[in-house]
Amino acid sequence: MKIMPAIEDTSAKLGVDPTSNAILIRGASKKYRVYYEKSENIKYLIINLLKGKADRHRDVWALRDVSLSIRRGETVGIIGENGSGKSTLLKLLCKILLPDTGTIDVRGRIATLLELGSGFSMEISGRKNIFMNASILGLSRKEARERLGEIIDFSELGDYINAPIKTYSSGMLVRLGFAVAINVEADVFLIDEILAVGDERFQRKCLERIRDMQRRQRTIVLVSHNVATIEEFCSRAILLHEGRIIADGEPGRSIDEYRKLQASRSGAQADA
Ligand SMILES: Nc1ncnc2c1ncn2[C@@H]1O[C@H](COP(=O)(O)OP(=O)(O)OP(=O)(O)O)[C@@H](O)[C@H]1O
Ligand SMILES: [Mg+2]
Repeated sequence: MKIMPAIEDTSAKLGVDPTSNAILIRGASKKYRVYYEKSENIKYLIINLLKGKADRHRDVWALRDVSLSIRRGETVGIIGENGSGKSTLLKLLCKILLPDTGTIDVRGRIATLLELGSGFSMEISGRKNIFMNASILGLSRKEARERLGEIIDFSELGDYINAPIKTYSSGMLVRLGFAVAINVEADVFLIDEILAVGDERFQRKCLERIRDMQRRQRTIVLVSHNVATIEEFCSRAILLHEGRIIADGEPGRSIDEYRKLQASRSGAQADA
């Protein structure tokens, strides 16, 4: 879990109503550079030499020309096949990654639940991690102490809160991450799949908190393969495919498109 401090408000510069948009992405693309393994190197070096290039890498475009705006208070689901660019999109939103083209603007304080343990330090206790995260966010030690009780209660980690978090199970890490994230009063909340790791009761508890955030007009972006959760919680769903947005709108419709895509893949595989 990683909490990012508030970033520059550029909505006025972009000429949009600063009260309505929490997120504005214009023409964003992101590429990863993948270097060949040594054993592959020779082969690709020869191919590249024949092509007149001397590259030892190839570029993978994880996102291609993505534009979208999300209003304050919206809950938007992101769906799509493995590798379609969902996590990359969230990492651009919280500035873990920078786009190769385009602009990304997010208004307000961002709390994220990305990969397991991201933003946490594995060697120190859950309790110390809470203080560390609180200070990254800009809370004073006093403020962090005031919220500590509630965070620990929510996490239900008991004595484990004093143990190094490398001893935690995956579900325990999620409990700590979620407990911190919901208690820091962020404006924008980015969640990548992670909820699925918690047990059923904890998942329910988290989803109730998400409802609560919705009532308080927080902006939520939720990546999930669980279309039932997307349908239940989101007012809008975006379908990513090979780094592009191919559907954006009412969740039922985007989910239908997603199912069609999956069915066409299964069909293609059956034909092969
Ligand atoms: N660090 C990286 N280096 C190289 N390529 C990467 C890296 N991270 C992601 N990619 C590639 O970028 C593309 C998008 O990956 P991303 O993790 O955003 O997908 P995703 O939609 O979150 O998938 P999943 O459903 O499996 O979580 C994939 O082709 C992936 O192989
Ligand atoms: Mg992902």
